[in-house]
Order: sequence, then C-alpha cells, then structure tokens
Amino acid sequence: MTDDETSDKGSRLWGGRFSGGMADELNRINRSLPVDWRLWPFELLVDRVWVAELVAVGRLEEEAGERLLEGLDRVERRLETGDPGAEPDEDIHSLVERWLEEEVGDLASAVRLGRSRNDVAATDTRLWTLTACHAMERRIRPLQEALVEAAEGCVDVPFPAYSHLQRAQPTRAAHWLLSHFWPLERGRERLAAAAGRVARLPLGAAAGMGSSLPVDRQRLAERLGLEAPCESSLDAVAGRDWAAEVLYVWTQLAVDLSRLAEDLVLFSSAEFGLVRFADAYSTGSSLMPHKRNPDGAELARARGGTLIGLLTGFLATLKGLPSGYNKDLQEDKRALFAADQMLGEVLDVLAGTIRTLEVVPASAESRLDATLIATDLAEWLAESGVPFREAHDLIGRLVRRAEEGGVAVADVSDAERAEIHPILEGLEPGFWDVEAALERRGTAGGTSRAAVERQLAAARSSLVADGKGP
Ligand code: ARG
Repeated sequence: MTDDETSDKGSRLWGGRFSGGMADELNRINRSLPVDWRLWPFELLVDRVWVAELVAVGRLEEEAGERLLEGLDRVERRLETGDPGAEPDEDIHSLVERWLEEEVGDLASAVRLGRSRNDVAATDTRLWTLTACHAMERRIRPLQEALVEAAEGCVDVPFPAYSHLQRAQPTRAAHWLLSHFWPLERGRERLAAAAGRVARLPLGAAAGMGSSLPVDRQRLAERLGLEAPCESSLDAVAGRDWAAEVLYVWTQLAVDLSRLAEDLVLFSSAEFGLVRFADAYSTGSSLMPHKRNPDGAELARARGGTLIGLLTGFLATLKGLPSGYNKDLQEDKRALFAADQMLGEVLDVLAGTIRTLEVVPASAESRLDATLIATDLAEWLAESGVPFREAHDLIGRLVRRAEEGGVAVADVSDAERAEIHPILEGLEPGFWDVEAALERRGTAGGTSRAAVERQLAAARSSLVADGKGP
C-alpha cells in the first residue's frame, strides 16, 4: 500500500466537523504511526490504567471496564504479532482504538473519555523515555567492563600520553584506557538524574487544561510507575525539556565516545601502532588487499556529530513554541528514537572493539624516548634549589642541544650537561628510566602503579555498586 492510498483507510479520532478526506500531502506529513508505533506497549499500559481509573471514579461500569481490558489484551496479541507501523492509521492512539473497536465494538471509545492525545502522547513518550534511560544505563556497562578488563591486563605496559597530539609524558596503557571509563560513569549518573525529571505524569492534563473527570492523578502516576503528576496541565502537554535533557545526556555520551573512537582510529594506524583491532572489528578495502580499516570506531566517532544534530534540531523545534500543545512536538519521538538507536549501536561496537583490542607494548615502548622525561628533570633541578623558570629553560636547552647534536637527550655527555648546569653532571643514568618516571606520579589519579591500581579498584567498585558488575 502506498501512502497516497492511506489517508482515509485508517480510523480517525476526529472528523465530525469536516467534509471529505484529508489531502494526501497533509496525511503524509501529519501521520506519525510509522514512527510512534513503537510506543504501543506504553499506550496499552496507559489505556489499562485509565480504564481502571474510570471505573474507580464511577464513570465506567465495572463490567464495561472488564470488557475493555479483555479487548486490550486481544489488541496486545495483535500488536505483538503484527506490523503496527504498516497500518494506515494516523498514529498509535488511532490504531489501538480502531483495533479495540474491532474487538469490543462501540464501547472502545470509552477509553478516551476525559483525556486527549496531547496528554496520552506525552505520557507514552515519557514512559518510553524512562525505559530507554534505564536500558541505556545498563547498555553502558559492557563497555565499562571491557575497559576495566583491558586495563587490568596492561597496568605494566608503559604507553605514550599526548597533549596537543604531541608526545607529552609516559603513562600506562591501563591509565589511558581507564581515562575513558569515567565519562561513561558520569553519563550514567546524568541519565539517572534526567530520568528523575522524566518520571512525571502528564495524563489527566487532557488537552492541556485538565480533565473534567474526577480522576486521581497521583494514583494514576503510581500505577504507571511515575513519581507524581506534572504540576501544570498546560506544561504537561507542552513541555519537552525532559526529552531535550535526555537527548543532551545521550549526546554528551556520544561525544565522549567519539573521543575514545578517535583514539582507537589514531592509535591503530601504522603511524602510531599502539593498538591492534581484532579481525572481527576490522573491515577491508574493496581495492587495497592489505587494508584493515577501523570502520566501527570511525562510525562511532561520526555519531557524536549526528547526535549533536538531533539535539540541536530538537532544541530549535522547541524554541519559541507558544503555550499549549503544538504539532511540532510530535517530532520529539523521531529525535529520541533515532538518538537511542544510534548511541546504543556505538556502545555495543566499542564494547566489542575494546574487549578484543590488543595493546602493542613494543610499539608503545618505542615511542617513549627520554625527552618525555624532560619535565621530571626540570622538576628535579627545581628540587635542588634552581628556580623552576630557570630549570625549565635549562632543560629546554639540553633538549635543543641533543637535537642539534643528533643524539638522544639521555646520551648528551656529562661534560655538555655540566655546561648547562653543574648539578646535571651527577645525573644518574637511571633517571631516564620510564618506570621510575611513572612511579614518580603517585598522586591520586596519576600514573604510578599504586595510583593506577586505585583507579582500577574505584572503577571496579562502581561496576559492582549496582550489582551489575563482573
Ligand atoms: N501524534 C501526536 C504527537 O505525538 C499525538 C498528539 C496529537 N494531538 C493532536 N491534538 N493532534 O504529538
């Protein structure tokens, strides 16, 4: 069936004041079923709770309520086995009511007594979003676990650390991997906080001005697993800041993951050679037989941008909307569903990539030349009483001299070092040892073995904190 044929085949929840059908062009843009059919489990939940409430407040006979609930059970089986998105109806609310009518006849429309699609759509979408937030919190875990496990295996692998993408100082491969653990942890915390603001109930706000039925909105909220009703019925149907907030949290995660992805792309290139992807997480080239491409990580890097687009697009949609429900708000689901799917895929592919990633100690070691210890030497000079500004300058000169002489900085002769500063003459050759440099940084969060072990322990304990850890 083409869209052109659909406009009047599905049920409409309105039409009394109209003559003739809707223009096909309008139907195509207006119809949200191809997107919002995914809300059906929440639509049914809301319907059931609403029916029970109508019975409780005496607006529906108990027997009629029973028939409606049985009808909704049958609709549920049809939704489970069918292809709801392919039905001709305007949206999920219209589809469920049409099918309910097929099951229980005219009684079906009693379900929408006292409510509007404005409050129902917002309620369904909040319930979906809440579920998606919790699912995303869980979906972050495998990547965090993979980072921790990978880090456990390379605490003793010295690794180059960068700033400005120039080699800066030595670190441990575990320290690098764990640096990507914490943004994910903060993302989980942000998700939990955002979910608290999602868990409010629009239902009962009706079209935006409240329901004339004496429904108990606190009871409705509790039955739907939400904390409390939205304070204002007008805000309940029009506010989507909670959706934007979740989109932001997901986007921030995608942006953080794009940084991990970029490290992986860069570090797996021959120029860096610090890590190697498993075959299962590499792709080939259709022309160049030797290529092993990091497509998964590249797409993960790209998705940060795509989510920024979804977030800013949605914020732009919200900006300047007048009070009350406006159809613009229907676009919330498109952004939420797309962002959820895209971020989920990124988390999954990066978890697999990290789980199977090989760190290459030999290439890491070959990048750790003595210049990376220059800072330590300046600090050592300062410790011996040379003002740091001068120490910094002197070691800079030592590095320049080594470069000019075409030798490694550790190989500048005693005599030449003494010319730069007499204290430098007595420098122990062991000073240039990478391991010693790593151990000098024992501050919390630093690179010493004990400091990295503490970071590992902290990461492990946040994994077990919610009982989902290894
Ligand atoms: N599909 C709509 C949405 O998601 C449902 C609400 C429609 N309300 C209305 N008054 N047309 O926002």
